Amino acid sequence: MRETQAKNGCQVQKYKMLIDTDPGVDDAMAILMAHERAEVIGLSVAAGNVGLEHTLANALKLVEVIDTQTPVYAGCATPLVHASEDAADVHGSDGFGDTAYTPSTRSAESEHAALAILRASHEYAGSLVLVALAPLTNLALALKLDPDLPLRVARLVVMGGAVTGQGNYGTVPAEFNVGFDPEAAHVVFSAWPQFTLVDWEATMRHGLDFARFEAMLARGDARAKFYDSITAKTRAWSRGRGRPKLLIADALAMAVALEPDIVTRAEDHHVGVELDGKLTRGATVVDWQDRNARPANARIVLEVDQSRFEALLAAAVGAG
Ligand code: BDR
Ligand code: CA
Repeated sequence: MRETQAKNGCQVQKYKMLIDTDPGVDDAMAILMAHERAEVIGLSVAAGNVGLEHTLANALKLVEVIDTQTPVYAGCATPLVHASEDAADVHGSDGFGDTAYTPSTRSAESEHAALAILRASHEYAGSLVLVALAPLTNLALALKLDPDLPLRVARLVVMGGAVTGQGNYGTVPAEFNVGFDPEAAHVVFSAWPQFTLVDWEATMRHGLDFARFEAMLARGDARAKFYDSITAKTRAWSRGRGRPKLLIADALAMAVALEPDIVTRAEDHHVGVELDGKLTRGATVVDWQDRNARPANARIVLEVDQSRFEALLAAAVGAG
């Protein structure tokens, strides 16, 4: 499943990875991390943090900043069933902090994201790592087109959910990616036999010290400079809300995807998605006591090695 290549005299592990994403500033860090350590075969893009025209433009800009040829595929512009509110208040109205960056001259591929996921799963059958950092709309669509998709994917890592109901979006227990498109999350969680789940509450346990993070960006290269500019607004927003730490959910999920043994505590349980309820729509419901007859579909990540996580962040912006 992995290839290795020599870099700076050491062996660096390479994965074949497809990232489903809605950049978004925390997606941006995850994408930087992935390109440092994995063979990224594509970015399939969905609407989420902001509208698709922005998430697509941001994905194209990122591959330009990284100076790579990773293909970018446009996917779903809306959730499967109901319209949802985006997260422009956190990420900026363009999703990248409203810095008015010069748009990339690159274009997206003509293939739809869901079809690109399916094609990649055939091309790299058994060796593809899928990392889902967005609402699960593209992946749900791919699954509906071909329910055998999970059989060809080596590993699926999902950033989503709030496993004990401490969410960050909409209804109290909902987390953004699941809450934005609960039907899509339901399709994926009920059809995928086994995936790794990195939820919002794990993100809260793995926050980053603001000053240390900013010092790291100051030591980094052009990627760090770009990341610094697009995250200035989000960092101010986080500080303004009195958050003690900087939270980068997608980066944590990417760390788990890149280095599965970074996980120091996890539990396997069944996770479902609540589709109804004024107070509960979008909640991830975990059968912590394994009381129902459904087999565990999710490995729920509870803790990771924080220093290894931070080392991956530093390497991604040339500050390792
Ligand atoms: C998730 O929601 C989005 O705002 C982030 O990009 C991340 O994927 C965190 O709840
Ligand atoms: Ca995201």
